[in-house]
Amino acid sequence: MKFDLETAKPREIYNLLIGLVAPRPVALITTMEEDGTLNAAPFSAYNYLCTDPPIVGIGVANRSSEEPIHKDTARNIGRSGEFVINVVTEDIAQQMNICATDFPAGVSELEMANLESAPSAVVKVPRIASAHAALECREHTTLEIGRSRIILGRVVSIYVEDRYVDPAGPYIHAEQLHAIGRMNGLGSYVRTRDSFLTIPRIPYSAWQKKQE
Ligand SMILES: Cc1cc2nc3c(=O)[nH]c(=O)nc-3n(C[C@H](O)[C@H](O)[C@H](O)COP(=O)(O)O)c2cc1C
Repeated sequence: MKFDLETAKPREIYNLLIGLVAPRPVALITTMEEDGTLNAAPFSAYNYLCTDPPIVGIGVANRSSEEPIHKDTARNIGRSGEFVINVVTEDIAQQMNICATDFPAGVSELEMANLESAPSAVVKVPRIASAHAALECREHTTLEIGRSRIILGRVVSIYVEDRYVDPAGPYIHAEQLHAIGRMNGLGSYVRTRDSFLTIPRIPYSAWQKKQE
């Protein structure tokens, strides 16, 4: 099938792209409301974009495609300039999903999901205590594109539980972290437990030798 994106509806484009750009990491983002309440919501339009400087990007759609109502996460980042990306692993996947529920104003997602917070090292916004890793970020640039915002954040501090770090690299013991990936908008995710595929890079010299 071919889809002409000039005529396709926003929902159709969303369905196609989130099923094809997959699996995606899930960031459970904590931000601070104006009154100091902690907000948490998951985002899978998310990745690191470069490491020097360390920049991550998040795509945040408006709450409704008709009216430009910003999601709390985008509004809080715009005001405070800070956020924390909590890495979503299998053990907190159900709680992450509760945080995506559209609770009325004044209801704390963290409380509903039974999640505790812990102080961050550099930013004021706390991280989620049960997340095994977190990236503390400061807003670098926000691009307003149509009905969405692309937020670029500079990572200013990284927290990882000791057991997931090989200090020699340092490397992350990714095969033990059990991060999950989002596959589509139908509630499908992938586990990374026991499913690693190792494909080492091929130096050109080794490639040439193989051809001889
Ligand atoms: C796994 C998952 C990933 C999501 N990714 C995004 C995303 O990348 N962008 C977005 O705008 N909404 C995304 N959502 C929806 C938001 O989490 C949801 O709208 C949430 O209520 C926003 O909360 P907030 O208003 O507190 O920011 C996702 C939901 C789930 C369950």
